[in-house]
Amino acid sequence: MTQKRKLIAGNWKMNGALQANDALVRAVVAGMQDAACEVAVCVPAPYLAQVQMLKSGSKLELGAQDVSQHASGAYTGEVSAPMLREFGVRYAIVGHSERRQYHGETDALVAEKARAALAHGITPIACVGETLAEREAGQTEEVVKRQLAAVIHVNGHCISEIVVAYEPVWAIGTGRTATPEQAQQVHALLRKQLAAATAQADRVRILHGGSMNAANAASLLAQPDIDGGLIGGASLKAPDFLQIIAAGSR
Ligand code: PGA
Repeated sequence: MTQKRKLIAGNWKMNGALQANDALVRAVVAGMQDAACEVAVCVPAPYLAQVQMLKSGSKLELGAQDVSQHASGAYTGEVSAPMLREFGVRYAIVGHSERRQYHGETDALVAEKARAALAHGITPIACVGETLAEREAGQTEEVVKRQLAAVIHVNGHCISEIVVAYEPVWAIGTGRTATPEQAQQVHALLRKQLAAATAQADRVRILHGGSMNAANAASLLAQPDIDGGLIGGASLKAPDFLQIIAAGSR
């Protein structure tokens, strides 16, 4: 049971346009002035500079959706942690299920990406989660533990610095959400796994994600081991995102 501030992080995925971003970020900044939780938006790389400017003077934090495991060099198309740092990036999502699924990211690669972020002062938001087939086969625990173990193995010495996000793949973008009880069960398991690696497991924020929205956020965020949310679709609509921020502030 922890008293840390919750983190509500928006994941825009591959959405946005200069004009729409302007309106969205301005509305979020205006609406979050009294927020008691931490708020971040993880935006596509080309918009980092724009959002850095739009958020300046506010408490909104900037995040990226991925980061290279390398610091520089001949890696066409990649974006490094030092580059992200130059734009004031505080968080980088690593191992999102869409990266694992469509870009073949392995547990080992995700762990390396977390290491690269940490090495350059960026907090990785390391995502874990089972597919529907895995859940139905009773493999949820085994899958999320394996995914987190890889990150702990490579980053053990500073594991209390990371953020974890549990996102059941079957709940992402589907409108189907884990029940608060289902979610809490896995979050507690992940907390226990962290506790075996660090005395500061209570400090680690474990976010929940997968169709979190204005209507279901409060009950999920009320669970003892849910320390915030990673919000996809609902983070693109300022009123919805602000309602989730309000739920995270209670
Ligand atoms: P969703 O996405 O909220 O649209 O389900 C969450 C995520 O993939 O981070």
